[in-house]
Amino acid sequence: MTASLSVSGVVRVPGDKSISHRALLFAALSHGSSRVRSILPSADVHSTAGVLRALGVTVPELSADFVMHGRGPLSLRVPRQDLDCGNSGTTTRLVAGIVAGRENITARFVGDASLSKRPMQRIARPLIAMGARVESERGDGLPMQVSGAALHSIDWRSEHASAQIKSAIMLAAVSSGVAVTVSEPTRSRDHTERMLAARGVTLQLGETTVTVPGGAVLHAADTDVPADPSSAAFFVALAGLSQHGELVLPDVCLNPTRTGGFDVLSRMGVRVRIEDRREVGGELLGTIIVSGGSLSGTAVGGDEVPRAIDEMPLIACVAARAQGDTRITGASELRVKESDRITAVVNNLRAIGVDAEELPDGMIVRGGSHPLRGHVTTHGDHRLAMSFGILGALPGNDIHIDDPACVAVSFPDFWSALSRVVGRAHTPASRAHDAATGSPDDASGYVAPPLRLVIAIDGPAASGKSSTSQWVAKRLGVRHVDSGAFYRALTAAALRSGVPAEQWTEASVLSHAPRIGQALTDRSVVPTLDGDTADSELRGSAVTAQVSRVARLPAARLWVNDRVRAAGASSDVVVDGRDIGTAVFPDASLKVFLIADSWERARRRLVQRLERRPTDAEIAEETEALVARDAKDATQSRPDPAAITIDTTTLTQEEQVDRIVALAEAVRRR
Ligand code: S3P
Repeated sequence: MTASLSVSGVVRVPGDKSISHRALLFAALSHGSSRVRSILPSADVHSTAGVLRALGVTVPELSADFVMHGRGPLSLRVPRQDLDCGNSGTTTRLVAGIVAGRENITARFVGDASLSKRPMQRIARPLIAMGARVESERGDGLPMQVSGAALHSIDWRSEHASAQIKSAIMLAAVSSGVAVTVSEPTRSRDHTERMLAARGVTLQLGETTVTVPGGAVLHAADTDVPADPSSAAFFVALAGLSQHGELVLPDVCLNPTRTGGFDVLSRMGVRVRIEDRREVGGELLGTIIVSGGSLSGTAVGGDEVPRAIDEMPLIACVAARAQGDTRITGASELRVKESDRITAVVNNLRAIGVDAEELPDGMIVRGGSHPLRGHVTTHGDHRLAMSFGILGALPGNDIHIDDPACVAVSFPDFWSALSRVVGRAHTPASRAHDAATGSPDDASGYVAPPLRLVIAIDGPAASGKSSTSQWVAKRLGVRHVDSGAFYRALTAAALRSGVPAEQWTEASVLSHAPRIGQALTDRSVVPTLDGDTADSELRGSAVTAQVSRVARLPAARLWVNDRVRAAGASSDVVVDGRDIGTAVFPDASLKVFLIADSWERARRRLVQRLERRPTDAEIAEETEALVARDAKDATQSRPDPAAITIDTTTLTQEEQVDRIVALAEAVRRR
């Protein structure tokens, strides 16, 4: 008998790949400073960063939050080396467009074996028609040399619904300042259009056409990269194939040109619900809540294909577990992706025991429920590895994937995210371990998550985590534990001893620990000092001035973490403070990381402290102190990668609380 699969938890999938590439490219092409948050730091996006650097653009390290200073297309310089695009078609084609529009720049594009075989004529033809020189050394593919020129306008009719072709032409127009019109058979993803509009370019948009005006000058704009729907799709499919539980996927890009995969999976019977829909920087996003259902085959074709193009291998794998046939047609573009995704998917499905048939422009997959066993050859294609990885995670299946590491192209942490969701996972890494240790395969492959609701709220200094957490706890009717108060209690105890703070040592501070107890007030677990809650002393300026000294002592951190863990051990809790989601409650059911820009945090802190509107000069001074504090803190604590980041800069406290409560309720319902 096949064991059932249970899933649970919140999966924070990484940033959208298409938007991440464009965030860097558009920051470089704009004039001024652009802030980029939550970029996908994957191999493909590193390729774009590397290529831009070779073209003379200063691109900082791809951290979770950085600023790029753009100087426009004219600042690009002749690269001294080949532009290495790695595995990334988007990098090659979009940058080729940019270079084509720059007179006096010649660049040679190279890439890995897979990319070198991919068709480049599709962008060479329009770029040549605009006046650039584009030559592939082997007739098509890479290496390819692009020489920029003063381009002229064209009206291009693309044979393919491809955002890469469309974007290459639009970017050539932007970098040389001419107008273009591009039309395509059906509308492909429109991130380039949205990002141009957000940077002040007025486009003319038809159903399947776009016109970029001549002389477009891009203003700098910030990008908050939403989670990648194509990466989220793997977990939507996994939950859809499960018998119990629910997954919550926050902040996923729901741009309608990208959601075809979700539509197909819903039609097959996966239960998908969307909450917290909103628009950020011109892109729609929301939280996906997904659970399983009884799945049946479907037909995929026509206009839906470009909207689900990157999800096709996954849809085929889900179809293998559905009742009846799934027929994919009109998808010959799949043959020119990172691998020939028609032949490769069909051959791999057959290799693991699925009845599948290749069509010139798609495939037929006949569903079943017998165990699937065998070897999958990825051809280095990340989406193949992950799609078959989902089938491999189902109890009863035994699937070996030849190159699991290729997921680094778009979702570097895929295997660990999968392990977290299904417990002791059926992933390539754990299989290798099982084989080495001879441990029997656990039929369910599932470790039950804690049934308690533990909400861990973290954030930098003055992010408002403590007051927001108290309010969240109240709304949910659960306990609140403020870890910061325990640091304050330890600090107050050391101050009461009369020893000057400069002389405190780790041992002397910790010697006061036995004087600290705990009490339950209202709903909060708070520390007591020498038997009293001493609230005003703990919040007073003497303690405030020294508390970060105590919080930097590793032994004090361990002690506080233990106390907080004990205080929140037996009931549903909201716990806030540093390290909560990582060291104290690594299994928390929901982890939230509150951020806000330093100016806003400084302003809020001063309003609370001064009980009046602070002046700009006061805020500036406080901002400086906070930035210095952030730098110190960064060395000792970082957010858990699974935490949901909420930028509260423009949110009221009530809105912050609403967001967290909605997430908590979604977790609770599972
Ligand atoms: C992309 C467009 C799509 C997609 C690729 C990313 C983009 O390719 O498959 O993963 O960022 O523009 P095509 O435009 O060639 O269909």
